[in-house]
Amino acid sequence: MVVESTQPSIIDPFVLADEIALNEALDALDPLRHLRNQDDLGDDILLVPTQPRSVQNQCINLTFPNPAPEGSSTAIQITLRVDASPGCGGIAWPAGEVLSNYIALRGEQYCHGKTILELGSGTGLVGLVAGALGGHVWITDQAPLLGIMKDNVNVNNLQSLVTVAELNWGENVPSDIPRPDMILAADCVYYEPAFPLLVKTLSELSGEKTEILFCYKKRRKADKRFFTLLKKQFNWREVNDDPNRESYARAAISLLLLTRRELAVYGDKV
Ligand SMILES: C[S@@+](CC[C@H](N)C(=O)[O-])C[C@H]1O[C@@H](n2cnc3c(N)ncnc32)[C@H](O)[C@@H]1O
Repeated sequence: MVVESTQPSIIDPFVLADEIALNEALDALDPLRHLRNQDDLGDDILLVPTQPRSVQNQCINLTFPNPAPEGSSTAIQITLRVDASPGCGGIAWPAGEVLSNYIALRGEQYCHGKTILELGSGTGLVGLVAGALGGHVWITDQAPLLGIMKDNVNVNNLQSLVTVAELNWGENVPSDIPRPDMILAADCVYYEPAFPLLVKTLSELSGEKTEILFCYKKRRKADKRFFTLLKKQFNWREVNDDPNRESYARAAISLLLLTRRELAVYGDKV
């Protein structure tokens, strides 16, 4: 017996457009829905961070290595206030821990004296580690997160090195925020409508020499759209000198080094 398939043999563009529109509407209603839904990945990767969603106004202590020449290493201790109530950034995300650990391993010479800006800082963890390593750091996020970031700067006594500022992706970068030598971003690819906004801000802040460390956790197929936008203006490669790479790769986390493509091509020389 021959059973005829009723499935169309090619993807119908109208069906696809409807599906994207539906997904965008659902994203707008619940930006974190993909973080709770593992269907897109089809495996058992843990999508949500280990702190429960009910976490409110708690402190966690995190320790990062600080290898120093001549065996004088002292670990970096960060006390982090976490609180899920101001939004998803109020807890520590896995890619943030990976990125913090990497810059700590690179040691003080990597950050010391540099102007460093973190995008989508949430609690501020990555920027706090960069500050503890002697960087002049700006940690930035949307308005509801500024309070928790300020508390975390104060509790770690990093006021002289770490500045908190509001920076909404896609909007003009406020004039008091300097153009950095290094940009840090962890776990900032999760909400599709924000993809072009994040690329715009990365491109506004970076020049040919800006080093961008971008730590990313793959959650769903739609993340590819972010990288399609990104590649118009940036090159990237995996950071390959992190001894922990294999272990976080198993959790679908990648650490990338982004550099701006030739600026002249886009007619926006700096
Ligand atoms: C998943 S959290 C990651 C937080 C932190 N980087 C970490 O690794 O723990 C994403 C962060 O991006 C911020 N964010 C999302 N959309 C943004 C936008 N349009 N402008 C600025 N920040 C944004 C959120 O507020 C949140 O703090």
